[in-house]
Amino acid sequence: MSRVYARYRQRGDEEESFGEVTEDGRGHYGRALLEVEDLKVHFGSHRHPIRAVDGVSFTVYEGECLGLVGESGCGKSTLGRAVLRLEPATAGRVRYGGSDVLRIEGEALQRYREKAQMIFQDPYGSLNPRLTIGGALTEVLTVHKRGHRRERRAMAEALLDSVGLDAAYMDRYPHEFSGGQRQRIGIARSLAVNPSLLIADEPVSALDVSVQVQILNLLKDLQRQHGLTYLFVAHDLAVVRYICDRILVMYLGRIVESGAAERLYARPAHPYTQALLTSVPDVDRGLQSRGSGRRRAVLKGDVPSPSVEIKGCPFHTRCPHATDECRARTPSLRTVAPGHQVACHYAERFLGPAEGVGAVEALGDASPSVG
Ligand SMILES: Nc1ncnc2c1ncn2[C@@H]1O[C@H](COP(=O)(O)OP(=O)(O)O)[C@@H](O)[C@H]1O
Ligand code: SF4
Ligand SMILES: [Mg+2]
Repeated sequence: MSRVYARYRQRGDEEESFGEVTEDGRGHYGRALLEVEDLKVHFGSHRHPIRAVDGVSFTVYEGECLGLVGESGCGKSTLGRAVLRLEPATAGRVRYGGSDVLRIEGEALQRYREKAQMIFQDPYGSLNPRLTIGGALTEVLTVHKRGHRRERRAMAEALLDSVGLDAAYMDRYPHEFSGGQRQRIGIARSLAVNPSLLIADEPVSALDVSVQVQILNLLKDLQRQHGLTYLFVAHDLAVVRYICDRILVMYLGRIVESGAAERLYARPAHPYTQALLTSVPDVDRGLQSRGSGRRRAVLKGDVPSPSVEIKGCPFHTRCPHATDECRARTPSLRTVAPGHQVACHYAERFLGPAEGVGAVEALGDASPSVG
């Protein structure tokens, strides 16, 4: 059996134990709820593929909030949609409850689609403008055969109440609500079928910062009350830090770094994560500030098109530390410390002096200088 390390979240001077990380570098929150293995989603043709998701593996543990971050176009939404079978996968496996959900059909797929729900950035787009909110919620309950006909209105009112909306809103139409209220309605609709896993795709990106905090707090409360597990997609690292236990950093369809949220903020090892942290303005208007105070390279240019294959490290075209080795050889995602994985040839050096000293020495002359 692998040794288990205690993991700590820094809160000022306090250190609070909040979980464990196994020696194999994976989070240890209990049972694995969702296991994604080498998932690929390619668009375009076989000869000219657009590699939106290009071999992604990770596990979501029961009860955790796993963040998925990266710039726009990195493949986050495609990954979330493929996991929920809203987008066909090109290759790979997605295990939930013992079966590969990419290969189930009929009733089994219907059950999975109840257990795993999506929360969208713009719930307005998925709400029927001609249906009242009460009507929309009772429709979901009817489709999924929840409760008896007479009970459904009361169930819909209870759902609204659980997301902080008054039952008086039942007879109003989507256009009568603010962005924050619509997101609450979207969350209520997802909760109608008692899901275990919620994939939230940038659920607060379109909202004002003060409203963002309210929705994030609601999601946290609901997670506690219902024992929910989240895969939380965002491009804003301050938002992810506020709500997530662990983080996956995605670049050009691949995971380039993963680890406990506080660890990644304190000691990011991949130049892309470091640049993302620098690029994000401190959000202390209600959300926790990054507060790192360190100077790092700011991310320049856009994510390259996934239709053009990049030899070597996918980040080398934008990385300030790229070497000939980076341009020639693709780094694999490897464990650099318990619970911390990085896909960079020089991760130990970027991680700083406290860990991986031996590995830095082993790099020899090929290692770049880091200022
Ligand atoms: N249906 C599609 N057809 C072709 N390309 C697509 C399709 N959906 C997404 N893409 C491309 O896949 C890449 C990843 O997109 P997406 O998953 O939306 O990224 P993100 O959510 O991180 O912004 C982008 O380059 C996007 O243009
Ligand atoms: S492998 Fe090279 S190009 Fe890629 S992130 Fe590391 S230093 Fe940069
Ligand atoms: Mg997206």
